[in-house]
Amino acid sequence: MRIFMTGGSGKAGRYTVDHLISLGHQVTNADLVPLDHPEVHNIKVDLTDAGQVLNALHAYADFHELEPGTGVPRYDAIVHFAAVPRILLVPDNETYRVNVLSTYNVLDAAAKYGIRKVIFASSETTYGVCFADGEVKPEYIPVDEEHPTVPQDSYAMSKVVNEVTAKSFQARTGADIYGFRINNVIEPHEYAENFPAFVKDPALRRRNIFAYIDARDLAQMVECCLNTDGLGYQVFNVSNDDSSVGITSAEVIERFYQGVPQKRDLGTYETFYANDKAKRLVGFSPKHGTWRSEI
Ligand SMILES: NC(=O)c1ccc[n+]([C@@H]2O[C@H](COP(=O)([O-])OP(=O)(O)OC[C@H]3O[C@@H](n4cnc5c(N)ncnc54)[C@H](O)[C@@H]3O)[C@@H](O)[C@H]2O)c1
Repeated sequence: MRIFMTGGSGKAGRYTVDHLISLGHQVTNADLVPLDHPEVHNIKVDLTDAGQVLNALHAYADFHELEPGTGVPRYDAIVHFAAVPRILLVPDNETYRVNVLSTYNVLDAAAKYGIRKVIFASSETTYGVCFADGEVKPEYIPVDEEHPTVPQDSYAMSKVVNEVTAKSFQARTGADIYGFRINNVIEPHEYAENFPAFVKDPALRRRNIFAYIDARDLAQMVECCLNTDGLGYQVFNVSNDDSSVGITSAEVIERFYQGVPQKRDLGTYETFYANDKAKRLVGFSPKHGTWRSEI
């Protein structure tokens, strides 16, 4: 496929770009900064500028695309990861502006050009636990995609708005638009760096609902969604199968979730961030949840 990836230079995007290229796809990385990868086509785009988005999405990706003499090829899919990725980086209204405008522009351009598959990064923060003032507990556990999304902060608000925008564009075009409620992204080197502290103090993971997603498994989820057509508008929790703490699920409940309704039984170290829907609908199968034996 010819894929337009946004935010491919970022923490999560780099792994997805690499994975998609390894699968034989052609990837254009639209980002404010280029990615140092020998096979990616970088284009510097400010996605908050609709003109730039419309232009970049209807442009040659590289000199070799001039050769056939058949004009600019169409992108088969968009993977939209670019964003201000949390609060406290820029003023709150700037986070909101960048994330909402850039996503509107990408979805609008996809609709105008007839691109039939868009995958976009939403967030675990939509559930309102992560960046809440004080402690907010989930309404029930494990947290699945039916859980209310009423966050307090500008970043998560921008992601909720993006989901609504995506749903509306899907209603107009009938394209497949899949949103990922991504949990905390972990790169391979971060297990040794960060997880010993999580084992020592599980409270460090309370705001992430004790979950995580390996950057390589997130890339696999993108692959699964590129391979699965016809689902219309969907949101998926994206997480690994196990939790990011050393204590068992029963101990997590005892210490942090007393009084929180439990929808179903949980395995000994099972994630509290349910990924059943992704497994059921697109065949997601996380492979890198082995930190317990690795660190
Ligand atoms: N990292 C996490 O734990 C996490 C968790 C949940 C959701 N997410 C979401 O996943 C996505 C990727 O996150 P990340 O951690 O890789 O973030 P990142 O900040 O590492 O990467 C984001 C990329 O977007 C680019 N970008 C920002 N504004 C842009 C603009 N106006 N135009 C073009 N490019 C722009 C940046 O240059 C950067 O390369 C984001 O949408 C983020 O909100 C991340």
